[in-house]
Amino acid sequence: MDIRTYETADFEGVKALWAEAFPEDPPWNRAERAIPEKLGFQPGLLFVAVDDGGVIGSVMAGYDGHRGWLYSVAVGREARRGGVGTALVRHAETALLALGCAKVNLQVRATNGAVVGFYERLGYAVEERVSLGKRL
Ligand SMILES: CC(C)(COP(=O)(O)OP(=O)(O)OC[C@H]1O[C@@H](n2cnc3c(N)ncnc32)[C@H](O)[C@@H]1OP(=O)(O)O)[C@@H](O)C(=O)NCCC(=O)NCCS
Repeated sequence: MDIRTYETADFEGVKALWAEAFPEDPPWNRAERAIPEKLGFQPGLLFVAVDDGGVIGSVMAGYDGHRGWLYSVAVGREARRGGVGTALVRHAETALLALGCAKVNLQVRATNGAVVGFYERLGYAVEERVSLGKRL
């Protein structure tokens, strides 16, 4: 397994991975839209985990000069519980730190509470915040 920056040839693999991992995501989070957008802004912060069979994991990161964010942390069902998710998050953290990022945030859907344990194992803590958003 290798973790590296996303390449054009990874598109179908990431699309399939996200469809499996995030079946309920709205259209604007789907690969067709989110990947081109990301490639236009900090493209070096989209990472994939690959093995002989192709893409088995992904993580998207962003740094705005104040905080870093993680999105689209996903591992294919057959590759889970083997440390790939941990390696992806660590990889993204290292890249953010290299940019001067001191704090990283992420959101977990309320319906996906079970995954909080995964992040806690990685040193993340649930913070008492209310998450707000607005589409522009
Ligand atoms: C969350 C996810 C990325 C974890 O990937 P992974 O490769 O299985 O993670 P790891 O093997 O590195 O797990 C490390 C540890 O985290 C914990 N963990 C992993 N998945 C977990 C889950 N679903 N629930 C609770 N704890 C979990 C376990 O303690 C695990 O160690 P163990 O296997 O020795 O018990 C993967 O389950 C996934 O893609 N889920 C669907 C997409 C998703 O919900 N992403 C998060 C969006 S916020």
